[in-house]
Parts: sequence; structure tokens; C-alpha cells
Amino acid sequence: MARVAVTRVLPGDALDRLRACGHEVVVHPGALPPTPDELRALVSHADGLLCTLADRVDEPLLAAAADLRAIAVYAVGTDNIDFEATGRRAIAVGNTPDVLTDATADLAMALLLAAARRLPAAERNVRDGHWATWEPGGFLGLELRGARLVIVGGGRIGRATGERAEAFGMDVTFVGRGDDLHRALGAADVVSLHAPLTPGTRGLIGRDALAALPRGAILVNTARGELVDQLALAEALTSGHLAAAALDVTTPEPLPADDPLLDAPNLLVVPHIGSATTKARAAMAEQAVANLLAGLGGEPMPWPAEPSA
Ligand code: GLV
Ligand code: GLV
Repeated sequence: MARVAVTRVLPGDALDRLRACGHEVVVHPGALPPTPDELRALVSHADGLLCTLADRVDEPLLAAAADLRAIAVYAVGTDNIDFEATGRRAIAVGNTPDVLTDATADLAMALLLAAARRLPAAERNVRDGHWATWEPGGFLGLELRGARLVIVGGGRIGRATGERAEAFGMDVTFVGRGDDLHRALGAADVVSLHAPLTPGTRGLIGRDALAALPRGAILVNTARGELVDQLALAEALTSGHLAAAALDVTTPEPLPADDPLLDAPNLLVVPHIGSATTKARAAMAEQAVANLLAGLGGEPMPWPAEPSA
């Protein structure tokens, strides 16, 4: 029998499989992630940990978790994990790839469409009582057929987004490591970010990258907030250089209600819901549990995570 600490109540009944195998499962109660102190207490006698992207797993945490030998991250991105620290302690780490690819690509497309067709402003217009008549020149947006989409990051989610965009008739270009990002951005009507957060991608979309975009371009980010310099983004929106930005991810998360970014015009923000479909979240829980069962049993995890290069 092992003890498994789980940092959030999860949808579905995947955790019952841990209990059915005789493991003791302790779920952090409540509607918010554990604080660092609560997380340390939660893992202090745990053999396994199921955590989310909101939980930082670093050396101080692991120092408080002498028995820990398996970590299942309930996410595909693992930038919250210090892999040097887990590696030193030979702790197995797994994640939940593939099953959230379609959900996240769907959301990237939803954000792209919403920004291109100015849905937030159009909806506000109705709710605020400003819908006076059918407007020949109102809310004119970007038509997708023939528009140029630059996808930064050619992994699973980037490719799945590209497939969807091609079905809308967009002209899709992928930019990966080693490609000339600024040159690609120079020919973009829309740029969508799908790269993992690494030392090499942090701040990738800064002032220079935004300046490289043609005036009137749209930015979509469903990857990690830290890929974007938010101050520079706010400036680019305020000056009108960017027509719109649609973000599923920000720095920090949650974005405080008084964050200056929220004063920028033509900004759509949603609270990190890329994988939030019933199907994806259930499958993620199954993968996380399978990773834990394997790791606790001393077997290779079916979905081992590696630090993103
Ligand atoms: C969500 O951002 C994930 O990495 O799964
Ligand atoms: C992440 O898994 C990606 O494939 O982009």
C-alpha cells in the first residue's frame, strides 16, 4: 500500500482505481490549490503525488517529501517541475500528453475566431444597449480564408491547430527552433503560440517580435503566459499595432483583476481552459492514475515526462 497525495478534487472517478489497488488517497480539499505550506504538509508522508500545473514541485518541496517516488502531473506542460531535483532523487514523473491535444487546438481556434470576428466587443455592444441597427461598417474583422497564420511550435497541439486552420482556408506556416521567427512574423495576419515554456521560449514574444508583426495582426496564446512580454503586449494593443490578442494563459495565473493588461483594448482573456472538455479531463485523470500506479509499482510510467528542451 502506498500513500498518494492529490492536490485538487478531480472530475470523474479515476482516483477510485488507486483506492481499488489498496492505496491510501488523500485529496487536498477546497476549491483552490494548496499553498506552498499546505503542499509541503500534503506530501510529507506521500509515496505518490498527483498535482496540477498550479503546484510548484521544486527542491524545497522534495526535501519535505522523503518517501516520494512518483509524480503524475495532471497536464501536458511540465514547466512547474524541477526535473533536476526529481532526477537527483530518482522520482519518476509523468504527464498527460495527446488526450488534450484536440481540446486545446479547439480552444486556440475558438480564440482565433473570436478575436478575428471581434466577438467580445460585439457581444458587449448588445448587452450595453448600443445595438442601434444593422451596421454596414461595424465590427469589421478578419476573414480566415487566405489569411496567414504563423504557428509557433510544431508539436502535437500546434499541428492540430494548423489542421483546423487549414480547414478554414488559412495559409499556415510553422515556426520551430532554428527558424527565423521575426521573418515569419513579418508575414503573419495571426500568430498562435504552441511552444512549451523553456529558458529558450520565455519572453519569445517580446517588444521586437511584436514589432515584427504587421500592423493589425492578432496574437493567440494557449501555451504559457511567460512566452509573452505582457507589458509589450499591452503597449502593442494600446497603440493599435496589434488588432487583438486572445489569451488562455497569462502571467501570473490567475491574472489579478487590476492587472494593467486588462486595461488594454481588444483583449480577450479566458482562465486557462485549453484542456477543459469533459472528455479530455477524464482521459487526463486516467493517464495520471496509470502513471502513478506504474511509478509506485516500480514500473516505467506509460506517459513519462521529460523536461522540454
Ligand atoms: C495545460 O496547460 C497543460 O499543460 O496541460
Ligand atoms: C504539446 O504537447 C504540443 O504538442 O504542442
